[in-house]
Amino acid sequence: MNIGSSMIFLLLQLLVAKPFPSNEGSQEMIPTQAELLDDGLTLLKKHCYTCHNPNTNSHDDIIAPPLAGIKKHYSTNYPEKRDFTEAMIGFVKHPTTEKSLMKGPVKRFGLMPKPAATDQEIRQIVDYIRDFELEKPKWFDAHEKGHGG
Ligand code: HEC
Repeated sequence: MNIGSSMIFLLLQLLVAKPFPSNEGSQEMIPTQAELLDDGLTLLKKHCYTCHNPNTNSHDDIIAPPLAGIKKHYSTNYPEKRDFTEAMIGFVKHPTTEKSLMKGPVKRFGLMPKPAATDQEIRQIVDYIRDFELEKPKWFDAHEKGHGG
């Protein structure tokens, strides 16, 4: 490169580069809390709804218990968030009958297979399950009442 062409190159660079990063640009680097939670839901739908789909017509339709019900069981057994997430992550990463809290569904549906999500994704999903209200199947509340609350 001779001096002339490198000058042109430099000038072009100056024209293309933004001298000061705008606010929007720098915020894009760090996902906001809302984006992380959104990811949790996206991952949940991707990895768990195949079986734990809340859009079912009746209790006879399902191939796995609804996560809203599972969450209730875990919340009752583990009121502290740390215990809840540890127990659920432990099960989801490597499901076994011994770790299972709900022996009825294991009998009815068979033990859950290990999902194809990474450890990091499982943590995000379980955090989402613990912290947010989950979509319930439309038959869910009536079914729960039938069990005495
Ligand atoms: C291939 C179907 C399938 C997929 C995919 C699946 N599950 Fe399950 N899951 C089941 C079945 C069936 C049960 C009920 C039997 C059991 O508890 O193992 C269950 C039970 C559970 C339980 C209750 C375990 C207990 O204590 O008894 C949790 C928690 C759970 N699933 C979380 C998840 C999460 C989170 C995902 C997504 C990362 C997921 N599942 C994906 C089929 C699935």
